[in-house]
Amino acid sequence: MSKSIRKYLIAGNWKMNLNAAEGAELAAEVAALSGQQNTVGVAVCPPFPALASVAKAIEGSSISLGAQNMHYQPSGAYTGEVSAEMLRHHFCSYVILGHSERREFFAEDDAFINRKVKAALEANLRPILCVGETLAQRESDETIAVVKHQVEGGLAGVSKDAIDQVVIAYEPVWAIGTGKTATPEMAQAVHAAIRSIVADLYDATSAAKVRILYGGSMKPENAAELLAQADIDGGLIGGASLKASAFHEIVTAALA
Ligand code: PGA
Repeated sequence: MSKSIRKYLIAGNWKMNLNAAEGAELAAEVAALSGQQNTVGVAVCPPFPALASVAKAIEGSSISLGAQNMHYQPSGAYTGEVSAEMLRHHFCSYVILGHSERREFFAEDDAFINRKVKAALEANLRPILCVGETLAQRESDETIAVVKHQVEGGLAGVSKDAIDQVVIAYEPVWAIGTGKTATPEMAQAVHAAIRSIVADLYDATSAAKVRILYGGSMKPENAAELLAQADIDGGLIGGASLKASAFHEIVTAALA
């Protein structure tokens, strides 16, 4: 299974940071630094109110736009929610789904996330499905079982035709925003396991096409080593995506 059939994706998860004006400013810097090449896929995922201004700021560059969440219904009485179609209208190509912060603080479970994954695909949005174990689960040797459950649950009912549109992000919860990173070997082991779970669910060809990103304190200092691993196809970057120069250094590591 050659890695060269998978294009790296470096995606910035801005979380609940930056208003529309600040977001446009950062996005313009990202576009100037990282948006003049097309070898590595680059995406920024601002909060909803910044989608329009960021879309404008990245126009004409190779940077893609992503959102951080959505509802699975196309419209209706769901106060506070946005639909896949609304995100498409704002030129989003990606949507982060099932981030551990949503699982933890908003009680999202695999079945709920799965409905969103399917709705995103139907709307031609590429889901970035996040999975990952907590520290307690890692310490009790449950990492692969937890990730398997999340991958199978998140992908339930997703057809073989659609699977190569899905991006999976492995984000060990204990590494998110903590400065603690999984070692490249630890990350690679889980990434390889995820790819074989996808192969079992679909087939080896599909599994070879699915991009699996690493997330959890990825930064310029550790990006090259992580990205060099056979099954790591990019990064979902939180903290380090809020500075265009640091984010660009990670893109550069993927280009090397
Ligand atoms: P971090 O966040 O890079 O700040 O650890 C990653 C994420 O939560 O997607």
